[in-house]
Formats: sequence, C-alpha cells, structure tokens
Amino acid sequence: MDYSKFIARASEVFRASEIRELLKVVEARKVISFTGGYPDPQTFPRESLAKIAYEVIVNYGDRALQYSPTKGVTVFRQTLIKYLKDKDVKVSKEDDIIVTTGSQQGLDLISRTLIDPGDYIVTENPTYLAALTAFRTARPNVVGVPIDEWGMRTEVLEEKLRNLESSGRRVKFVYTIPIAHNPAGTTMSPERKKHLLELASQYDFIVIEDDPYSFFVYDEADVTRLKTLDSEGRVVYLSTMSKVLSPGIRVGWILGPQQLIDLFERAKQSADLHTPTLSQYIAKEAIEKGVVSETVEKARKIYRVKRDAILSALSENMVENSWWVKPVGGLFLMVWLPPEIDTREMLPTAIDEGVAYVPGAPFFVDESGRNTMRLNFSYPSIEEIRSGIEILGRIVRRKLGR
Ligand SMILES: Cc1ncc(COP(=O)(O)O)c(C=O)c1O
Repeated sequence: MDYSKFIARASEVFRASEIRELLKVVEARKVISFTGGYPDPQTFPRESLAKIAYEVIVNYGDRALQYSPTKGVTVFRQTLIKYLKDKDVKVSKEDDIIVTTGSQQGLDLISRTLIDPGDYIVTENPTYLAALTAFRTARPNVVGVPIDEWGMRTEVLEEKLRNLESSGRRVKFVYTIPIAHNPAGTTMSPERKKHLLELASQYDFIVIEDDPYSFFVYDEADVTRLKTLDSEGRVVYLSTMSKVLSPGIRVGWILGPQQLIDLFERAKQSADLHTPTLSQYIAKEAIEKGVVSETVEKARKIYRVKRDAILSALSENMVENSWWVKPVGGLFLMVWLPPEIDTREMLPTAIDEGVAYVPGAPFFVDESGRNTMRLNFSYPSIEEIRSGIEILGRIVRRKLGR
C-alpha cells in the first residue's frame, strides 16, 4: 500500500537523504568512518555511572522513577546553575532554565515557538545540519553567513542585516555555534562575539547560542560564551551532557529569559511531558560527584591526540588548495577541497576503498560547499585516522589527475 496520501505536506522537510541511506550501508560494512558525531566509548565512565544509577534508584527511587516537572527536576536545575556559574555562565533563577531531551529538543522547541512561516533567521554557512532541519519545519527564510577561521564573518552579517532592513525585513534570530563549530571546527574571535552582540542590539534580534563543546577544549582558547557577555538578555543558550558525560542519557538544557523559557515549557509539555527523570538524577549526581569533570579530562586527552593525528595526516596527504582549520575543541573539522571535487559524487568510491565521510553540501544553507567534507575525529582510532586520511588523499589526487 502507498501511504503518500496520508502524509502531511509539511513533513517534506524530513525527506530521506541519499547520504543517510549510504551511511546506513557504512554501518553494515567494515570501513573507516569519519561520519558520526559519536564520542569515543572509552570516555564513558561506565563503573561510576553504574554505581550512580544503582544508588539513585535505590535511594531516590520514589522520585527518580516518577513523572517530574516539565522544566526539569528542581534539584538538578539547582546543580546545573552551580555548574554553569563555575564556567561564568550566570543564571539568576531556576525559572530561567529548562531541561531538554538533548539540546536537539531545544532546537526543535525554539523552532516551534519562535518561527512563523516566512520569518527571517540567520545561521552560519555551513551550520549544524540537524538545527537547519529543525528550523526548516517552521518554514522560515534562512540566511547563511559565511565563516572563516575566526568564525561567523560578522561584517557580512552586518551587510545582510542592512540590506534586509532596507527592504523592510527583520531578522528574528541568529543561530550560532561560536566555540568548536560543527561542522567546521572554527571558534569565534572575541571581537566578532562583541560585534555580534552589538548587531543584536542595533537590529533587535535574539542570538541562539548552541554550545555543546566549550567545556572541553584542547588548547588555550578564549571560550567566553556569548551568554556571559550578554548584557541585554538577548542570548538564548543551549548546551548538553552529551559530550561531557554520555549522549545516551539525553539531557540538555536551555537558558534564557523566563518569558521564553515558560513558552518552551508549554511546547515541551506536548512533546514529551519532561526529560526522563532518571537521567536527570543521574546527571545531577555525576556533576556533584566529579564524574563529569573526570570524563571531560579523559575526553580532552584522548581527543587532543586524535585531533593532532588528523591534522598531521591532512597536512601530509591533502592536495594544495585544500583548506581546514585547527579545531580548539569539538569533534569535527571540515575540509574544503579544490572546486573540481564533488564530495557527494566521490563518496561511493571512498566507501568502496574503505573510508566514509559526510559530504558537506547539506550543511550549507544554499547547498553550496559541494567540494567540502565533514570529518569526525573522536570516534575512529589513531591508526584508522592515519590510514583513512591517506586513502582519501589518494582518491582526491586521482580525481584531479595528479
Ligand atoms: C552543534 C550541535 N548542537 C546540538 C547537538 C545535539 O546534541 P544533543 O545530543 O544534546 O541532542 C549536536 C550534536 O552533535 C551538535 O553538534
């Protein structure tokens, strides 16, 4: 039976991607994979989490196994507030924070509550693909702003804002991943952060700051969050336990002005009532018992070595006229190859020769970036990184006839 007639037109944004289909094949085959955003399972604190989970169920079972408030378990929000305060992210009260089922749900809530069809929103170009998909469900006009090694080019943003304003349009929000960008690995300079906030004030928009990665940078880097610099209450800040503890527990959060957080709360009610209570209790204990800090320290060491391995493999194997940045943190970098290369076209060959990556075009608002690929370096082993990049370098040279 063909079910098309039952499907809503709005669900077109969830179209199957040929890449995702191809990557399913990758999972079934033994290839070196630079595809997913998976943490290295070595970083998971299994013993400590098993102990915490046991204790939580035995000691607080009555509450931890029960329904809980939509905004999140109060004692967990109090712990989060302390955790964030140590990182210079100030939250004045529990009502300014909502716990979400991963920060992905935060993006979905923002999309459902802030965007009307036809609204203008801005993202970096490229940006996090699943954020684009979440926003697109609400049918906005998405304006992409290019990036360079210092993150979003705010002078280009300014020009776009000026042009939009002169044609009577205003931007509702700018979505940014300022630190250790996914997919590009870039980090926004302090000057650009300041400029972005000045523009927010001048053109009266909100900044959505998505920050899964600033908690474990590998080098000396300025990780001051926009939220910390925000003096007007314009920044809505999202983060997550996914990369500092475990993505499987699905705990993230949004900080922002209470008026918006209350709205997200109402939207979340219809989505899932609340984020799993058990996960929130486990996350609370993991923060308080230092398990999150230990995981971060471990992850930082493991990923720094892997990051350095992929950087040196790229320098040794990639053709001239390729470009990438050294990520100070996060799990990804993006390689811009010479314009003759189409990474989507090249993928089946790469898979046949034993390597998979994610072609970059879908991360671009305008599907440009056909010559780019996103590489994850947290999951593959050092040996896989070395030989995988060597294979990719060989394929690219062959395609270019060098
Ligand atoms: C920039 C960015 N935002 C959001 C997410 C979603 O994270 P979560 O696991 O908390 O839903 C990710 C995951 O990789 C990400 O890279």
